[in-house]
Amino acid sequence: MLNKSNGPLLRLDQVSKAYGSYQALQPTSISVDEGEFFSLLGPSGCGKTTTLRIIAGFEVPSGGTVHLGGHDITRTPPNHRDTNTVFQSYALFPHMTAAENVAYPLKMRKVPASEIPARVTEAIGQVEMSKFAERLPHEMSGGQRQRIALARAIVGRPRVLLLDEPLGALDLKLREQMQHVLVHLQRKIGITFVYVTHDQGEALSMSDRIAVMSGGRLQQLATPRDLYYQPANSFVASFIGKSNVISGTVETNAGRTVLRSGALSIQMPDRAAKPKAALRYEAIAIGPESEGRDVVFDANVDDALFLGNSVEITLDLGGSRLVAMAPSQRDGQVRPGDPVRAGFNFRDLVPLDD
Ligand SMILES: Nc1ncnc2c1ncn2[C@@H]1O[C@H](COP(=O)(O)OP(=O)(O)OP(=O)(O)O)[C@@H](O)[C@H]1O
Ligand SMILES: [Mg+2]
Repeated sequence: MLNKSNGPLLRLDQVSKAYGSYQALQPTSISVDEGEFFSLLGPSGCGKTTTLRIIAGFEVPSGGTVHLGGHDITRTPPNHRDTNTVFQSYALFPHMTAAENVAYPLKMRKVPASEIPARVTEAIGQVEMSKFAERLPHEMSGGQRQRIALARAIVGRPRVLLLDEPLGALDLKLREQMQHVLVHLQRKIGITFVYVTHDQGEALSMSDRIAVMSGGRLQQLATPRDLYYQPANSFVASFIGKSNVISGTVETNAGRTVLRSGALSIQMPDRAAKPKAALRYEAIAIGPESEGRDVVFDANVDDALFLGNSVEITLDLGGSRLVAMAPSQRDGQVRPGDPVRAGFNFRDLVPLDD
């Protein structure tokens, strides 16, 4: 299928989904470019799988349209779309070897028998499983089975690969390994990926762009860096990484804008300051590090959580609290009750709209 539009490869226009009276997906518009690693990220129940199933054709949206390569595919059945899906449970056929599993979709599509072995070998090679081609699923680990499931999904060379929490059943170490496998695979084969996850670390490390969702609504669509440094609202600020959300009142006095929140009084850099702002834990410096910051204040340590490479320190500012994250040190740890000086810079304060 040629991309007639020269626009984005995949385009969702005001797509919505209601189950009875329950609105699982509010009208949502998303465009995905050819070759992009695109993620849908959000907490359980926010509508990620619903969106993916609409792209795959397993669900018909209640409203809106889906275009692939310039063609309206809103009502095209899944097997007539140039997409393929990998689910969390790999669902390989248990009585077939890895190679037979990968060959299966080609046989179904009546690809000439003479072409099949080479394509199967290529796909299994792409997921670095050549040595396992003759194994049965029960003779492989979960991670290995998932790689074979990936090979089976790419062997038909879909234009868009849809992945619904494909690493969800794997343990942490294996998940991290598989993230590298996926990123390399995607670069190598150049297929557009739409990846669903509730794990922000996974989304941040792999994606070109991320659509953050909550309650059936798109909250922000941006690059990992922009989501991290320029969250659009409090939901994104608290869901991506760790942020303090400072809310209070804004007073303008003699041309100066001051945000007051509990004991904290922050002179804002401009008049347009909003009464709410996000401040990343790691943007707050403690002790000598705080010297020279735009805002410096005294506080008491409420508690300090040792996290290995860092320490999460809750600061009591005489009523209000802020959490700071500092690199952990072998010596000189802070303890609850300790008075400390802390500070941050204006540029790390992100005004929030809601
Ligand atoms: N067939 C259905 N009938 C009724 N409600 C449904 C149906 N499918 C999904 N829902 C509801 O729609 C909402 C969104 O579901 P969806 O599966 O898209 O969430 P999700 O973001 O994928 O969550 P998770 O991370 O838990 O997989 C949920 O509240 C869910 O209960
Ligand atoms: Mg889901």
